[in-house]
Amino acid sequence: MTAIRLQINGAAIADEVLPRISLADYLRERHNLTGTHLGCEHGVCGACTVLVDGEPVRACLSLAVSCDAREVKTIEGLANDPVMKALRDVFHCHHGLQCGFCTPGMLISAHDLIRRGLAISEAEIRRGLAGNICRCTGYTNIIAAIAEAAAALAKGSLDAE
Ligand code: FES
Ligand code: FES
Repeated sequence: MTAIRLQINGAAIADEVLPRISLADYLRERHNLTGTHLGCEHGVCGACTVLVDGEPVRACLSLAVSCDAREVKTIEGLANDPVMKALRDVFHCHHGLQCGFCTPGMLISAHDLIRRGLAISEAEIRRGLAGNICRCTGYTNIIAAIAEAAAALAKGSLDAE
């Protein structure tokens, strides 16, 4: 076992983990943060996307030990984030999900795109979401939802933290 200290959704954690456990398994099994979904488990689908030190990463490809001294944020940790709240609303209005399996990863990637000012056109949103696979929606409604949230943010009707 390896000792680690990290922050998860703002809480300081000191723990001991198996060196081989993935960040996704650690979050889901040890902390019950099951909003981090596991699809392909080899870095292709994006369902497991979380933020590590503010950057989107594949939790299935990251080791928990590699997050020592780092800050991890999952979809649960963004529950009260104003951009995420807006994204949830527009996903709802545009029917941007069906089974919902891809949705946490989609939302975290969309949140990152908006925060970095990259959700400026349909083409840019599609490029930014290239690492997130959805088997249900055909993407059109997801793109429309993100574009609406980005436009609202640009107009100042949302207040990004
Ligand atoms: S489960 Fe991690 S990328 Fe698919
Ligand atoms: S809503 Fe089912 S995989 Fe995207």
